[in-house]
Amino acid sequence: MFAFVMMKQKDIQGRALLDYFLGKEDVQLVLHTSYGPPEQMPTEVFFRDLSDFSKLEILALENCRGTVLDVGAGAGSFALELQEKGIQVTALEISSLSCEIMRQRGVEKVEEGNIWEYSSAKYETLLLMMNGIGLAGTLESLPAFLSRLKECMLPGGQIICDSSDISYLYKGGKKPTDKYFGEIDYCYEYEGEMGEVFRWLYADVITFARACAAVGLKLEVLQRNRYDQFLCRITGQ
Ligand SMILES: C[S@@+](CC[C@H](N)C(=O)[O-])C[C@H]1O[C@@H](n2cnc3c(N)ncnc32)[C@H](O)[C@@H]1O
Repeated sequence: MFAFVMMKQKDIQGRALLDYFLGKEDVQLVLHTSYGPPEQMPTEVFFRDLSDFSKLEILALENCRGTVLDVGAGAGSFALELQEKGIQVTALEISSLSCEIMRQRGVEKVEEGNIWEYSSAKYETLLLMMNGIGLAGTLESLPAFLSRLKECMLPGGQIICDSSDISYLYKGGKKPTDKYFGEIDYCYEYEGEMGEVFRWLYADVITFARACAAVGLKLEVLQRNRYDQFLCRITGQ
C-alpha cells in the first residue's frame, strides 16, 4: 500500500497518460521490471474502447451487473463502456491526473482514492481489469486485499477480475525461490523521471482460488485465453 501512496505523489503514469490524451506525439512511458529489461508501455492501451477489447474483456463487461465500482479505473476504458450500456458505474482511481482524464473523457462518477481505504459506498460488482488483482501487491497481502474488496461489496455481490499465470516468463530459467513467482516489482519512468518501485501480483488460478477460499470467497473461471490470462468471478461461498 505504501508503494501506491508514493506512486500517487509522483503520478508518473498519470503524467504520461495526460500527455498522450492531450495529443503529444511519441509519448514514451517506460516500465522497469524485476524480471527483465525495461519495456515500452503503450499508453494507448489505457484508452482502448469496445473495438479494442479482447474477448476476455468483453466477457467482463457482459458479466457486470447492478452498480459497479471500477477499481483502478485508469483512463476510464471500462467505466465509459459501462456508462454507455446504462450501467451505474463509479470509477475509483488513485492517480489524480488519471481522474482528471476520466472527467474530461466524460466519466460521470469519478472518485480519486485508494481501494485499501475506500468506504464511500458498497456495490453489486467490483470490476478490476488489466490484471486488477495486481493491486494486492503480494501473495501474502492477497487475502487481506480480497477481504477489503468484500467489505465494498453488497450482499450477493461479485468481483469480476482478470489475472495471468506468468510461469511462461521463467521457461528455460528458474522460478524465484525467495517469493511467489507471480510477484513482480515495477517502476515507471517518464521523461527521465523515475517513479517509486511498486509490487504487482499475478496469480495462477489454483493459488488465487486458495486465497479466495481462505477468506470465505469462491472463484469461478469464466474464460481462459491462450496467453495464460483468465477472467474470473468471485462471490461469497
Ligand atoms: C493496470 S492499470 C488498469 C487500468 C484500467 N483498469 C484498464 O483496464 O484500463 C491499474 C490502475 O490502478 C490504479 N491504482 C493503483 N493502485 C491503486 C489503489 N490502491 N487504489 C486505486 N487505484 C489504484 C493505477 O493508478 C492504475 O491506473
